[in-house]
Amino acid sequence: MSFDPVRVRAEFPIFSRKIRGKEIAYLDSAATSQKPAAVIDAMDAFYREHNSNVHRGAYVLSEEATAMFEETRGKVAKFIGAPSGDGIVYVRNTTEAINLVACAWGRKYLKAGDEILLTEMEHHSNFVPWHQLVKDKGLVLRHIPITDEGRLDLAALDRVLTKKTRLVSICHASNVLGTINPVAEITAAAHRAGALCLVDGAQAVPHMRVDVAAIGCDFYAFSAHKMCGPTGIGVLWARPELLKDMDPFMVGGETIVEVHLDHSTFRDPPHRYEPGTPAIAEVAGLEAAIAWLEKTGIDAVHAHEASVTAYALKRLLEIPRLTFYGPRTGPRGGVACFTLDDLHPHDLATCLDQDNVCIRAGHHCAQPLMRRLGVVATARASFYVYTLPSEIDRLIESLNRAREFFGCR
Ligand code: ALA
Repeated sequence: MSFDPVRVRAEFPIFSRKIRGKEIAYLDSAATSQKPAAVIDAMDAFYREHNSNVHRGAYVLSEEATAMFEETRGKVAKFIGAPSGDGIVYVRNTTEAINLVACAWGRKYLKAGDEILLTEMEHHSNFVPWHQLVKDKGLVLRHIPITDEGRLDLAALDRVLTKKTRLVSICHASNVLGTINPVAEITAAAHRAGALCLVDGAQAVPHMRVDVAAIGCDFYAFSAHKMCGPTGIGVLWARPELLKDMDPFMVGGETIVEVHLDHSTFRDPPHRYEPGTPAIAEVAGLEAAIAWLEKTGIDAVHAHEASVTAYALKRLLEIPRLTFYGPRTGPRGGVACFTLDDLHPHDLATCLDQDNVCIRAGHHCAQPLMRRLGVVATARASFYVYTLPSEIDRLIESLNRAREFFGCR
């Protein structure tokens, strides 16, 4: 069946909600996506029919829950092009996945003077874990700069990627600029320099076909809640040979083989990295989200978003005194960051809320990038599989009303 955004949108119960008697225009999917009924139903069915703990019970309910939990690893792996579920570690979100690598891999293998290479466009979750490690271990941080257009300045790679670089950690797609980074090319450069490569895929996996084998990276992190799934569950994929030798991150039940009064021994991955009772219903939700995206077709999702984003850019750029941040041409993600005249983005977002137009305003957890752009905050509209051109029209109408209200020139 061909892709029909109106039919797709009808699968999301939240869009029948009215606020102030009017439909919402949800333009904040980069913060979190809405959830189709299939995902909500899968979690509901888990609690109604299968609820039990995993890996612990010698009874049917627990065996069913454990089978679903473990089989989902293989489905996640297939979705991102990984060879098997062996490299799939369940975490809470992308942030936890990056912390896991910083602690379990970085603390074990890095030493004073080693270098980590990030980019200027990272989310805080790909700065702060490394800042902590740098402080504790005497590492050196370097950054790939961005061009004025908002792309990575790869001409600088020879300068910032050195013989001392041990890890390159980069976002696949920027949550601010919409830039899609050439992660395979950067991974290859990292490997040539003898470094590993981690890719933060939080803003990529929901929106485009991702193939970790083709990228060639060593670690890949993403969250379920931005890809139609629930909050509280995310994924770290790592090459299994790396997972095998890394130290545990957080420890406790599930992670151990034996516990003695004075020491413990640890299980093989992935369970070594999954302490305590995991987010089981959320894994059922993740499984349903993947099934839903596969049924809808991830390439169709990407194509729809590309067309909505092109329309949004065209309309936004017609607005006088609107400053747009990020590439205007070429393949890009479905986010549009902008400022309008000298209005504070928070005032703008509050004004748009009066029309039920939901956007994000602020630094978008990317303060270093905001400094590079010369702003403290921007407004951001972001799009997904269910976004309709009529919602873009509502955004533009609402922005024009805000311009009048605030007396913009
Ligand atoms: N990282 C999410 C965003 O960009 C929360 O909004």
